[in-house]
Amino acid sequence: MTYQWPARIQRKALITGITGQDGSYLAELLLGKGYDVWGMVRRSSTINTSRIDHLYQDPHDEDVRLRLIFGDLNDASSINKILKVVRPDEIYNLGAQSHVKVSFDVPEYTSEVTALGAVRILEAMRELGLERTRFYQASSSELFGKAQEVPQRETTPFYPRSPYAAAKAYAFHITRTYRESYGMFAVNGILFNHEGPRRGETFVTRKITRAVAAIAAGRQERLFLGNLDARRDWGFAGDYVEAMWRMLQTEVPVDFVIATGETHTVREFCGLAFARAGITLAWRGKKTAEQGIAVSSSGQGTVEQGGTIASGGDGSLEQGIGVSSAAAGIAKQGTTVHSAAADIAEQGADPSGRVLVEVDPRYFRPCEVELLLGDPTKAKEKLGWQPRVGFRELVEMMVDADVAAAGAGKQP
Ligand code: NAP
Ligand code: GDD
Repeated sequence: MTYQWPARIQRKALITGITGQDGSYLAELLLGKGYDVWGMVRRSSTINTSRIDHLYQDPHDEDVRLRLIFGDLNDASSINKILKVVRPDEIYNLGAQSHVKVSFDVPEYTSEVTALGAVRILEAMRELGLERTRFYQASSSELFGKAQEVPQRETTPFYPRSPYAAAKAYAFHITRTYRESYGMFAVNGILFNHEGPRRGETFVTRKITRAVAAIAAGRQERLFLGNLDARRDWGFAGDYVEAMWRMLQTEVPVDFVIATGETHTVREFCGLAFARAGITLAWRGKKTAEQGIAVSSSGQGTVEQGGTIASGGDGSLEQGIGVSSAAAGIAKQGTTVHSAAADIAEQGADPSGRVLVEVDPRYFRPCEVELLLGDPTKAKEKLGWQPRVGFRELVEMMVDADVAAAGAGKQP
């Protein structure tokens, strides 16, 4: 199914949301493949290009391959102008108000950017006659919301549970509508949660790994979290942008689920992250009174709780038996974890006996998505895509990066 592009003049890609986590990894990938990359950025009062600073080229240089251009998904005229100037071969629409909890606070704004942003681009493509341009829409596993099936696949009905998810549902359907109405190459990648050291600081994984680094360094007392029981299918963002690119290289435009096929609780992520810093957490109490307590800080971490749900390609569900979970593996084998973070914990104040994690209901959502678990079989078969970074490696990569930043005196 993979399409062989004819050798031809330099390919051009436009990325909305290039300053975000995924935008930065995708820009790296495309530049590495020889693309000319244009990134749409919105004006802000402080410079917010830190994730792509290492890719930045002075526009006065020769052979500039990354260019930034001002625009906003809320402003159709800016989108029109950009498409007229760039006339890209591929458009990756990653721009969004992407925080689920925040979408309850700013529902109308979220809809403007996250829902209508997509149709503004599609309509501009149509009006300008960009028939050969291919369009990728960043759809989300949040569409499955109150999951009607486990694991979730391309055919699973949607049940959005937030203004963010409702906006993404609109963008999903309008993308499909333009494909079917006008024959455009427009596809949805239904991506499950993907993370990495560049993840925004208020998403739960990064919030945890930054706190672990700060606590290990003796700079923070405690971490407050919301729903510890929520389960997510977490992968590495670097792997997921590869899937986006592959989706635009196929002969026929089709939508895909991109996931790891494993799910873990927030509690599990937290336990493994602290273990990487040499701090063993034990959990006591229930619901809002639950606490994570340091039972040792030896530089050799073990995790007390583990367990995973893994989706078989056949849709089977293995539950609660600790299969193939990194955290569970450590728990069972008492594996030693040694890392830079552990060394910091050894040098810092021993947190043994201290309450390090508490539940704060302010982080609960009016409507929660309890369980996400994707079935990436179709992507494996048709795109030849599969994730390279596993759950444990992901947690360790993120903790190590934040610890390194803390060690270098930077705010992680
Ligand atoms: P992110 O880090 O929050 O980045 C969002 C990007 O959108 C930023 O570059 C942001 O610019 C830009 N943006 C926000 N409002 C905009 C506007 N009005 N006009 C133009 N650009 C705007 O998100 P991400 O994690 O990289 O995710 C990328 C996309 O995938 C998003 O659409 C997200 O909803 C979707 N998605 C993400 C995941 C995941 O787990 N990461 C999973 C499924 C789908 P500023 O830097 O100026 O804020
Ligand atoms: N953010 C946050 N902060 N989440 C917490 C906290 C906390 O303190 N405590 C528990 N959680 C739980 C949330 O309730 C949710 O169930 C889970 O952790 C994951 O939350 P986030 O990391 O904020 O991500 P998300 O799953 O809501 O949304 C992300 O993934 C979607 C794909 O499924 C975002 O990247 C979306 O843009 C993306 O579409």
